[in-house]
Amino acid sequence: LSAQKEGFRFFMEKEIYEQSEVLSDTLIGRLAEDAILFDELNPSLLEGINEIKLCACGTSYHAALASSYLFERLGKIRTSVEIASELRYKEPLLCTDTLFVVISQSGETADTLETLKMAKAAGLKTLVVCNVDNSSMVREADAAILTRAGIEKGVASTKAFATQMAVLWMFSLYVAQTKDTIDAETLRKQIGLLREVPAVVRVHDDLHERIRRLSKRYLHGHGFFFIGRDIFFPLALEGALKLKEISYLHAEGYPSGEMKHGPIALADPELFTIALMPKNLLYDKTKSNVEELSARDATICAISDVPFEKADDFIPIAAHDHYMLEFFETMVVLQLLSMEIAIRLGNDVDMPRNLAKSVTVE
Ligand code: G6P
Repeated sequence: LSAQKEGFRFFMEKEIYEQSEVLSDTLIGRLAEDAILFDELNPSLLEGINEIKLCACGTSYHAALASSYLFERLGKIRTSVEIASELRYKEPLLCTDTLFVVISQSGETADTLETLKMAKAAGLKTLVVCNVDNSSMVREADAAILTRAGIEKGVASTKAFATQMAVLWMFSLYVAQTKDTIDAETLRKQIGLLREVPAVVRVHDDLHERIRRLSKRYLHGHGFFFIGRDIFFPLALEGALKLKEISYLHAEGYPSGEMKHGPIALADPELFTIALMPKNLLYDKTKSNVEELSARDATICAISDVPFEKADDFIPIAAHDHYMLEFFETMVVLQLLSMEIAIRLGNDVDMPRNLAKSVTVE
C-alpha cells in the first residue's frame, strides 16, 4: 500500500497534490473558446426548466451549497439546496419545471439515491454529478456528468470535492448559455478563469511548510470557527468538516456576518477562528466581522491575499483577480491545515474513526 502512496504520508496528502491534474482532466474537452461543452447531455435537458434543486450529503452537500451561489449569480436560475436525509421525509413540493441534481462522489449514498428515485417518481428530470461511472445514481438518473477525480481513497474527500466544484461551476455557465442569459464577454472571461484553476490548486512547498509549522498552535483549545461570506461560507463549512473528520476537534463553519448573533459570546484566546478573507468578495464586510472577534481576543488565523495585521497567524494565498480562483486556493489551504493538525495529533488521516467512505445505510 505504501508504494501506492508514491512517497506521500497518506492517501489524503497524495490526493490533495493530485488536484491540479484531476481538475485538468475534468475540464478537458468541456471548454471551448466561447462555450461550455457537455457532450454527455441531451440539449433538451433544460427545456421547460425554471429551477434547480441540488441534493447531496456530506462534502458533496457543501459542493451543492457552494454552487448554488453560482447557479443564481451566473446561471440566473432559481436554485435551492437540500440535505438528502432531510429532503426524504419533509414531504417536499416537487414541481416538474425543476431539474433535480444529485451530487455524489460514490454514486451509492443511500439517502441521496433515495431522493433521486423520489424526484423521478414525481416526474422531475434528473441529473447526477458523480465520480463513479456505472454507479447506482448514474444508472438511475436521466443524465450524468462525471467528475474525473480518479479513485479517492482518503475517507475525507478532497479531490472529489474540487472536481465537483469545477463541474458545477461549468454547469451553471452551461445553464446560462443554454437559456441565453449570459453575454459572450462574461462567458469568455469565466472560461478563462476555469482554465486557470489547475494551476491555482498546485501545492507549493513553501505554502505547505508554512501550514505545517503553524498547525502546532492549533492542537488544543475550545474549538474552531471557520468563517466566511457568500460562497466562502460553504467553503468554511467544508473546512470545518474536514477538520472534524480527521482531527476529532470540534469545529463549526459559520457565516461571518452571523457571528455577532450568538457565537461571538464564545470568543476568547482559546477560540480559534479560521477567517476566509478573499480580497474579491466582500472583503471589507468580512474584515469588520473578524475585527470584532479579534477585539474580543479570539485567536485569528486569516487566509487571504491581503495582509491582515490583526491576525495572530496569516496564511497568504496568491493575489487573484476573481473570487473563484481565491476559492480554489483557499480550499487547498483548508485541506492542508486540517491534515497537518490531524497528523500532529497522531491520527490515521486516511481511516478516521467511526467514518466510512461510502454510506449505503440510511
Ligand atoms: C460519507 C463520506 C463523506 C462524503 C459523504 C457523501 O460520509 O465519509 O466524505 O462526503 O459520505 O458521499 P458521496 O459519495 O455521496 O459524495
